[in-house]
This record gives sequence, structure tokens and C-alpha cells, in this order.
Amino acid sequence: MDELILRILDKGVRAPSSHNSQPWRFVIEDHTVNVYADHSRQLVVSDPMARELYASVGCALENMRIAAAYEGYRAVIEFMPQDGSGAAARVSFERAERVDSDAYHAIEVRHTNRKPFVGQLSDADCRYLERLPVEKGVEVAWLTGPSAKRRLLMLSEQANEIQLEDPKYRAELEGWLRYNAGEENRHHDGITHEVMGYPPAPHWLGRLMAGASLKASVVNELDEQRISTSNTFAAIAVTEDNPVSWMRAGMTMERYALEATGRKLAYGFLNSMCQVPEIADAARMHFRLGTATPVVILRFGIGKPCATTPRRPLREVAVTETRRHAGVPR
Ligand SMILES: Cc1cc2nc3c(=O)[nH]c(=O)nc-3n(C[C@H](O)[C@H](O)[C@H](O)COP(=O)(O)O)c2cc1C
Repeated sequence: MDELILRILDKGVRAPSSHNSQPWRFVIEDHTVNVYADHSRQLVVSDPMARELYASVGCALENMRIAAAYEGYRAVIEFMPQDGSGAAARVSFERAERVDSDAYHAIEVRHTNRKPFVGQLSDADCRYLERLPVEKGVEVAWLTGPSAKRRLLMLSEQANEIQLEDPKYRAELEGWLRYNAGEENRHHDGITHEVMGYPPAPHWLGRLMAGASLKASVVNELDEQRISTSNTFAAIAVTEDNPVSWMRAGMTMERYALEATGRKLAYGFLNSMCQVPEIADAARMHFRLGTATPVVILRFGIGKPCATTPRRPLREVAVTETRRHAGVPR
């Protein structure tokens, strides 16, 4: 069973997370996994409520659910179990029919695409994504078309301007940038120079390059290319603004990411719009979300291959606890 759980966790940690912070820890105990939100990895400036942190944990839970199904198990997820563990979720496994899905095979190849897209989704692709099941307490709103795009670009530019003027925001982001292979191998997390489109460089030079490119004028230009080449956008929102809903939003988001990948589509994030409260409010209205809070905004399209990101080894994030009730069968 432990081998099986390790295989499931190996898929779990391939999930996306904001700034590739991988804010999760796993404790394997009695054939169950306690999944912890690692607040030491929280982006306290851009994500003070920890919405994205819990959404990232939700992405890992979705991967675990799909991987368990592939192994012939149903993952039973109990959010915020009241057992004194402090876990964000407790996952146990029940025997079930094996499900070999495209989503499972997409786990290894899914990645965030920050480049302009080179083609649009077909109507069939849009319909397929729109019909995917959504977790309880999660609402998904879709936008297409030129006028929707113009407004999104405007909001995204306003969010970039507010964020990139804040030295604390820039410092937090720079703290997750990895400028060369040495830094990547030391941390196994964060956003690599390749993903940012920088050549490898010593830390001091990398910082100079980052300083020159983390400006609203530069980021707005990139967002203009990203948004103008996309024609399908989704806001994933929660009706109750709490950690369980954020995890459910993350599960839903990862479902779109994997299903899109399985259909050879690309996706990227436009999350600065969710991170700046006054812009999130405007985005909520633009997507006609009513009172729901947007947690993630995605764009979809056809993409060119792009750089992938490292993950911390499983031994750094998962431990096996010896039985608390040794000898007592459950
Ligand atoms: C909740 C959440 C928010 C994110 N926000 C952004 C974003 O605003 N911009 C961006 O480029 N990537 C964003 N990402 C993508 C992460 O940076 C990415 O998942 C991480 O670097 C790992 O890379 P991968 O997705 O290619 O595996 C976000 C991811 C998550 C889960």
C-alpha cells in the first residue's frame, strides 16, 4: 500500500502551484494521507488570504484523485478533518474500478504556458471544457470575443501596474526566481530562468535582468500578446470564501488544465486580476460572477511547447508516520 501511495503522491506533486511554491506536505499514516498546507511557502504579499495556496493544494488533491483512479482506487477526500491533525485534507482509498483516463496521462506533460498562443479552441473543445464537472461551491464563468478581451486586458494592465509598483510584491516574486542550474538544483521549486525567458546567469546578473523586466510596461506588453492571442477565458470562483472552497476551486482548475492538456490544448494564468482586490471585484463583474469570489483566471488556446518546472523530491515533502494505534486493526 505504501508503494501505491507513493506512486499517487508522485503524481500529486506534479500539480501547478503559484510561483511553483509547492506549498504542501504529506503524512502517510495507516493507508491514508494527511495533506497539509505549508504556510511557510505562502506568498504573503500577493496571496495574503492564502487563496492561491489552498488552490494549489487542491490541484495536488485532484492529481491524487485521478492517480488513485488509475491505480484502481477511489480517493475519499475529507477536507479539514476534525481529528486534531491540522491537515487541510485527509485522503483515504477505497477499492474501485480502474480508470485509465487521458487526464491521468496528462499529469506528466501538463505545464503552464506563458507564451502567446498560435491558435484557438474549436467549438467542440469549448463545449467539452464547459461541460466538465465543477466541485461543490465552485462557479466557473466563461468569456470569449473581442470586447471581453479588451476589458480583460485593461483589468490585467491595471493589476500589473498596482502590483509592480509595490517593492514588496517585486521582492516576493524575485525570491522565487531561479537564475541558473545551481539555484534550480538547490531549491527544486520556483520559476526558472527558462520559464521567464532569461538566459542562465549568475545570481547578481539574473537579478539585474529581472529588475529590468519586472516593470508594468514590459509585463503589460506580454499580457497584451497573451490575451490578444487567446479567445477563451474562464474564471473559477467560490461562493464561500474559505479554505475548503479554495481547495475545491483548485481541484476544478486542475481538471480543466489536465483535460485541456489531454486534448492537446494549452492554458495559462491571468491571476494578477484575482490578486488585487479592487481589480478582482471588477473581474467578478466582467465575468458576471454575482457575489462569487474569483480565485483563478485562465486563458486557453493552442500553444507552442514551453519550458517545464522542477519539483522537490518526494522525500522532502512526504513522510510515513508509524501507526498511532500499533497493533490495533482499523
Ligand atoms: C493558484 C495558482 C495561481 C497561479 N497564478 C499564475 C499567474 O498569475 N501567472 C503565471 O504565469 N502563472 C501562474 N500560476 C502558474 C504557476 O506559476 C505554475 O503552476 C508553476 O510555476 C509550476 O509550473 P507548471 O504549471 O508548468 O508545472 C499559478 C498557479 C496556481 C496554482
